[in-house]
Amino acid sequence: MNEGIAIYPGSFDPPTNGHLDLIQRGSKIFEELVVAILRNSEKSPMFSVAERLEMLRALTADLKNVRIDTFNGLMVEYAKSIDAVCILRGIRAISDYEYELQMALMNRKLEPTLETVFMMPADKYSYVSSRLVREVAQAGGPVKGLVPEVVEQKLREKLDPAYRFHDANIVAAPADEKKSDRKTSDKKRKKKA
Ligand code: PNS
Repeated sequence: MNEGIAIYPGSFDPPTNGHLDLIQRGSKIFEELVVAILRNSEKSPMFSVAERLEMLRALTADLKNVRIDTFNGLMVEYAKSIDAVCILRGIRAISDYEYELQMALMNRKLEPTLETVFMMPADKYSYVSSRLVREVAQAGGPVKGLVPEVVEQKLREKLDPAYRFHDANIVAAPADEKKSDRKTSDKKRKKKA
């Protein structure tokens, strides 16, 4: 176990099983792991920072050396403010490498005392990203197994009433369907299924 605080920064919109896998691995290696959600992302997020904070807190409640926080501005500045000595990032495939290398070297230029450590999530999550999870869920596809159940539930709430998730399946109501018509066609869809 390495002494000191490590920071695992990211957008986590939403947290995936790949993120959780990396948090679990990181928590075994570092004395304390701070999962830090970027607050001032340029992208318009699907989940608010408060929602992501709540999901990540629920997901890591059993990991005593993991803390969830948020940050604004430069990540290295935040890392310094909490006395972190290490930045943890995940690399799923070679396609992640170029961006991660650039970011790690820029962060080193900004703060030479902070080391970036890369870890690989389990290979079964090597194709899972928050962006693809959002895309699949928004298009009415199943996300079971890609995200923790608490996140699946939040996606269900977020996309309701246009979508009704079933166990491993999602039935999408046509986008132009009037609310008043939805009950009737829901019944028809059920009959067909
Ligand atoms: O999950 P993501 O979106 O890949 O995480 C990217 C993140 C949040 C780690 C990165 O964009 C970041 O650190 N942003 C904060 C601003 C900053 O420090 N930029 C310089 C990084 S080289």
